[in-house]
Amino acid sequence: MMRIDELFSVAGKRVVVTGGSRGIGEMIARAYVENGAEVIITARNAAVCDALAAALGPRCVSIPADLSKMAEIERFAGEVAARWDRVDVLFNNAGASWGASIEDFPETGWDKVMDLNVKSVFFLTQKLLQLLKRENAVGGDMSRVINIGSIDGQRVSALETYSYAASKAGVLHMTRMMAKNLATDGIAVNAIAPGYFPSKMTAGVAEMVGDEIIEATPLKRWGTPEDMAGVALFLGSRASAFLCGSTVTVDGGYKTTV
Ligand SMILES: NC(=O)c1ccc[n+]([C@@H]2O[C@H](COP(=O)([O-])OP(=O)(O)OC[C@H]3O[C@@H](n4cnc5c(N)ncnc54)[C@H](OP(=O)(O)O)[C@@H]3O)[C@@H](O)[C@H]2O)c1
Repeated sequence: MMRIDELFSVAGKRVVVTGGSRGIGEMIARAYVENGAEVIITARNAAVCDALAAALGPRCVSIPADLSKMAEIERFAGEVAARWDRVDVLFNNAGASWGASIEDFPETGWDKVMDLNVKSVFFLTQKLLQLLKRENAVGGDMSRVINIGSIDGQRVSALETYSYAASKAGVLHMTRMMAKNLATDGIAVNAIAPGYFPSKMTAGVAEMVGDEIIEATPLKRWGTPEDMAGVALFLGSRASAFLCGSTVTVDGGYKTTV
């Protein structure tokens, strides 16, 4: 299996993308649908999530949920299980940020970010384990959990985003721990650490310091949907089956300069 169309294929895979209604999640969902996978996307805003699923066609289904709440994680996992008897790839992508000075940082800005960026990643994976587990998969093509971290979990950001930085460093280390413990269940766990990609989350940053970011980026640009699609498809395909607890940084080299 050395041909690109086999080694990198995701056709027929069943894929869950949290935060799949816009931004990086939309880039990932679109890449999988366009390459023959079946995709469930989730987000809180049902109208936006439903509209994207409709636009992506019959291989994409919207199941809206607020994953910052345990009851909603359980309901969402139940709805996935009612529809599918297996999940091949789970993208834990939904995330939120909060910026404030250390003096003014509120508890809500801590809990909101930690509940979604770390706690929901752990518990959604836990609730989907039965659908992800593969017998005798070690040595073959395992199911995948792909956590979306950030370069903000790898180096110190210029912005005062304390809970976000802690959450993203946390999710990258949790990725390694889950990878070690889930490997024998046939589940490979890896992470993506994006640099700057245009989205609602980064719209304010783009307006304030977008040009400075380009200046500090060796490749002199922001990320594109193709940049995210390439890494996301790789991590869900047979091509990446020997990655276990890895973080793929996709940032145009930004992290090397700051
Ligand atoms: N864009 C970047 O440059 C960048 C860089 C590094 C890392 N990241 C990471 O990439 C991921 C996606 O970010 P993005 O830039 O695409 O942000 P975004 O445009 O704000 O998208 C966030 C997505 O998550 C969903 N979401 C938010 N809260 C949720 C909740 N409680 N339950 C379920 N879904 C929820 C949003 O939909 P609703 O609001 O409708 O719920 C939306 O679909 C995040 O983990 C982020 O930290 C982004």
